[in-house]
Amino acid sequence: LESKIEGIASSIRVVPHFPKPGIMFQDITTLLLNPKAFKNTIDLFVERYSRMDISVVAGVEARGFIFGPAIALAIGAKFIPLRKPRKLPGEVISERYVLEYGTDCLEMHVGAVQPGERALVVDDLIATGGTLCAAMNLLERAGAEVVECACVIELPELKGRERLNGKPLFVLVESH
Ligand code: PRP
Ligand code: MG
Repeated sequence: LESKIEGIASSIRVVPHFPKPGIMFQDITTLLLNPKAFKNTIDLFVERYSRMDISVVAGVEARGFIFGPAIALAIGAKFIPLRKPRKLPGEVISERYVLEYGTDCLEMHVGAVQPGERALVVDDLIATGGTLCAAMNLLERAGAEVVECACVIELPELKGRERLNGKPLFVLVESH
């Protein structure tokens, strides 16, 4: 396990000052170029969630779409894309969330999830936690039970975990 985690961590490229001065960007595209580390990433999530009776995996656009569907397929759950505004053609519910400058929004199709379904929310990274918080709110407004949130990377200094209202968060790698 330790060596799998180490392989994942070392495959994530850190790009200083992207997209703005002072930001240490955690670039998962280099993880995707390493098939062994990418597979280990998915396998570690699948090991954890295959026996948790999860019927829905929701992934956050865009980078949550890289990891969420592979987990959903492996555990026999459906996949729900949580999208940026005006991308989904059907009736949607929306959640605004605060960014460093301004706000953004996530949308989910009405009817994608039934009340009482057990859901996992997947994204690549948690920073301030605003994105995951909005994602959880969408699922809970639709009546789903969010069992846990899962990310590849956490930036612990930003204390995003504290914004999740006590909901469990599982991460593979902490980045400082
Ligand atoms: C990044 C990242 C997470 C989010 C984390 O997505 O992929 O979704 O920020 O930040 P937070 O915890 O402070 O909300 P971004 O919105 O940059 O877009 P992308 O996934 O479409 O690249
Ligand atoms: Mg994102």
